[in-house]
Amino acid sequence: MFRWIVVCILVSTTIRVDAAPKPTKEWWKDSFIYQIYPRSFMDSNGDGVGDLNGITSKLQHLIDLNVSAIWLSPIFESPMVDFGYDVSNFTKIDPIFGTMSDFTNLTATAKALGLKVLLDFVPNHTSNKHPWFLKSVKKIKPYDDYYIWMDGKLVNGTSEPPNNWLSVFGGSAWEFNEERNQYYLHQFAAGQPDLNYRSAAVNTEMEKILTFWLDQGVDGFRIDAINFMFEDPRYLDEPRKSNAGVDEDDYEGLVHIYTKDLTDTFTILKSWRKLIDTHGKKAPKGEPKIILTEAYTRMSEITKYYEAGSDVPMNFMFIDPLNRYSSTMEFKRNIDAWMNLVPKGHVANWVVDNHDNPRVGSRYGVRRSDELSMLSAVLPGIGIIYYGDEIGMLDRNMTWNETVDPAGCNLGPEKYHLKSRDPVRTPFQWDNSTNAGFSTANKTWLPVHENYKTLNLAAQKAEPVSHYSLFKKLVALKKMPIMKTGSMEVILVGENVLGVVRRLPDIPPVVLLINFSETTVVVDARTWMNIPEQLTVYASSVGSNIPSEVTMDTTEINLPGAASVILSGP
Ligand code: NOJ
Repeated sequence: MFRWIVVCILVSTTIRVDAAPKPTKEWWKDSFIYQIYPRSFMDSNGDGVGDLNGITSKLQHLIDLNVSAIWLSPIFESPMVDFGYDVSNFTKIDPIFGTMSDFTNLTATAKALGLKVLLDFVPNHTSNKHPWFLKSVKKIKPYDDYYIWMDGKLVNGTSEPPNNWLSVFGGSAWEFNEERNQYYLHQFAAGQPDLNYRSAAVNTEMEKILTFWLDQGVDGFRIDAINFMFEDPRYLDEPRKSNAGVDEDDYEGLVHIYTKDLTDTFTILKSWRKLIDTHGKKAPKGEPKIILTEAYTRMSEITKYYEAGSDVPMNFMFIDPLNRYSSTMEFKRNIDAWMNLVPKGHVANWVVDNHDNPRVGSRYGVRRSDELSMLSAVLPGIGIIYYGDEIGMLDRNMTWNETVDPAGCNLGPEKYHLKSRDPVRTPFQWDNSTNAGFSTANKTWLPVHENYKTLNLAAQKAEPVSHYSLFKKLVALKKMPIMKTGSMEVILVGENVLGVVRRLPDIPPVVLLINFSETTVVVDARTWMNIPEQLTVYASSVGSNIPSEVTMDTTEINLPGAASVILSGP
């Protein structure tokens, strides 16, 4: 009884989405952004690692999908301790990916095809092989305070790390450097020392780097780990979670009150926003540049990122292991909460997958592989997908010997699988030839998933029903006027079905229904959602066996277990 009262209250929220849109140059509103992990997209030179020329050779695939932009995970010179997120030269392309002229060729080709190119900007840390760090070790000015250096704490005559801070990849966040006789902070791998933004010179360096890439004509940046940039200068121990249920040196065991989301982060973001916007005005077409920010953080912090200038404070509600919502009620509550926090004039965003978390079909089950792409298409704002989502790629379990990700390697042979991100980074499955058509090498940097013989792009292009053809429909749907300006409601259609409805006056609504249960449910969507008695199937999840274009009686919809369906007018 109580549950149904709650349901009725929840059912009633309608979210208006900018009633009268002004023509906007902000190309990213209501678009899909496609993340490429360059090592795994396409290898053009047969060394087993993907590269820029490989990406250029496959741009037609992105054009066929009709996504608006590609975001490239780091392509800069790097010792590859964290596969590019440890940068040793921010303005040089790593030879494994190609040359600056390959990059120019990639961006010129993409631009000619109408595709935006976004780079990953990694401001929190550098590689420990970066010349700044090497000079900092030697206390050469002004590099001596480019990083966070501290003396050890003397405990019973031995030097210990300055405090209890932990690295995201496990263990102390402090590494002792013999030469300087001090500890340096690294919130990720030891090969990724944290920069010290209390030194003004560091920000000047980063501004030069942003300007350098803006001069190359990039369309925006995804800012990596932005909420790690500042630390509380008192360097106090962080409190321990009371019941985290994790190992002593596991990052999740602490509450990160002194190392994350500090106020200074927003000041620096504002200054970068200004720099990027000013540069945009000088650009020939004056098109605005986009800023995406990566911060796994509380919803209450998100508004601050929007207000400080992020166009896309990435919304990880569907993928963050700490809050990966699983019930219809939780989905509804959190989607509504997100919509309510988006400041006026900004847009929501929905991250479907990325290179740090299990792929959607592996975290929710194969039958639910399409669910989040469908949701991100129907919800207002930007959908962000990860290479391979469009064909339903799945995680490939790795043996300890195959594991290369520091997040896994640091845990050792017994536990590596709990944190390793290798399974989600396997080569793109283009076709059923050797190495899935990704590379001609004898060995690829990570093994190709064994399922490539049947699960690949070429096979899906030949099939009438596929993840690929579904995703193309979703991109087309997002570009429709009702998706840009229609109102939006998230509705619980009974206990197990989540509904989303978009409406504009005088035209049929667009309705998404997702069955969260494993078995068939029959729902009266008409009554629950106040929609016409008859609607047509626009698209359905692969495996649901719901044919497109059939007309449905919305008073009695048969929704197979784990199926999702989008209905609209004829
Ligand atoms: C976040 C990135 O997404 C992740 O892959 C990387 O390991 C860390 N930042 C460190 O740069």
